[in-house]
Amino acid sequence: GVNLDKLMAKTGLVTLDPGFVNTAACESDITYIDGDAGILRYRGYPIEELADKSNFVEVSYLLIYGELPTAEQYENFADRVRRHTLLHEDLRKFFDGFPRDAHPMPVLSSAVSALSTFYQDSLNPFDRQQVELSTHRLLAKLPTIAAYAYKKSAGQPFLYPDNSLGLVENFLRMTFGFPAEPYEVDPTMARALDLLFILHADHEQNCSTSTVRMVGSSEANLFASISAGINALFGPLHGGANSAVLDMLEGIRADGGDVDSFVSRVKNKEPGVKLMGFGHRVYKNYDPRARIIKKTADEVLEKLGSNDPLLDIARKLEERALSDDYFIERNLYPNVDFYTGLIYKAMGFPTKFFTVLFALGRLPGWIAHWREMLDDPARKISRPRQVYTGQAQRAYVPMNER
Ligand code: ACO
Repeated sequence: GVNLDKLMAKTGLVTLDPGFVNTAACESDITYIDGDAGILRYRGYPIEELADKSNFVEVSYLLIYGELPTAEQYENFADRVRRHTLLHEDLRKFFDGFPRDAHPMPVLSSAVSALSTFYQDSLNPFDRQQVELSTHRLLAKLPTIAAYAYKKSAGQPFLYPDNSLGLVENFLRMTFGFPAEPYEVDPTMARALDLLFILHADHEQNCSTSTVRMVGSSEANLFASISAGINALFGPLHGGANSAVLDMLEGIRADGGDVDSFVSRVKNKEPGVKLMGFGHRVYKNYDPRARIIKKTADEVLEKLGSNDPLLDIARKLEERALSDDYFIERNLYPNVDFYTGLIYKAMGFPTKFFTVLFALGRLPGWIAHWREMLDDPARKISRPRQVYTGQAQRAYVPMNER
């Protein structure tokens, strides 16, 4: 019966919790994580089962609408997501303006932000029909935007989407295909990417999702909120970790492949040296997604004909870390990103592009959270408090007297 808000306001009490280690910002029905037991469920369904039996479009529906779709609902949803893949020609021109060597993440967030200018009907987040439309548009267009970002960086011509293809197949064709040349989608690659998207699709209140919710709490529209989420994902401690893992493995190889000396540097806490792809705020056990990815990595890499020496370094590094007290004491286990980069690399994506793939996978989760947040009757604008540690009041000193 105590209204904590009012009590705190009256007493002037605030809780200080940097990084929100122990503070829940909302209630949510979407994703359940038990970090100690290594459990992850979307809407109650274990990630292992979804990875095995579902597909990314179905998982997107599940996250956003809360239930697995019937056959008719699925067809309807998949059809809408297929039909909105084209980008406005003027938006396409945006890509000409970016430098060719631009990192694709800010290209992605800029293009998503720009969607608000092309679809001004999206500006009212309480117009149900428009929210549906924005949802379909974004799910359909983000793969096209991502493929264009890739084409721009590769200096290759853009390919319009082929809406007879599924979401992942269409994305692969737009990324790796060429105009007027047939492109056969490799089913192993398509299935592996679909699986990775499923595994990335939601992870409750991570940094980017919290950002989406925070921006959305001001009643900013879907595109503005997701664009902010993409920027949050860019950082190396979050989505950027999948690229950072590859850079780390390359670095170890360049130094002669000495895993032990790298681990010593990590343990000595050399500035900027971390075991990337290890550790997690919530998982203090093996990340269940990493378990699934590790299992598929071997299979996929073999089928794609990849014989990457970095895989061997990754395996050694994992084995070494898992038997080392430093990592054991701190509960540091491989996270989702430890092996994904090797798969993306085998598929032909440049390292810089890995985080974009994370964004494509995480999109349905962001959308689901944005919608849940707006529907929450307890919703309030996000506005954390602070503990002020600056100067007490002081008098202004004219410049010539300083
Ligand atoms: N390598 C070496 N030491 C680590 C690592 C790591 N990857 N992660 C944590 N530690 C150490 C810290 O130095 C700290 O040690 P201390 O107690 O001696 O000071 C202890 O473990 C606890 O770490 P925190 O940083 O307090 O843990 P936090 O929950 O704040 O951070 C994070 C989690 C950011 C994921 C961290 O583990 C990390 O930086 N990992 C590497 C980057 C990475 O892989 N990010 C991807 C996360 S998953 C995702 O976004 C998909």
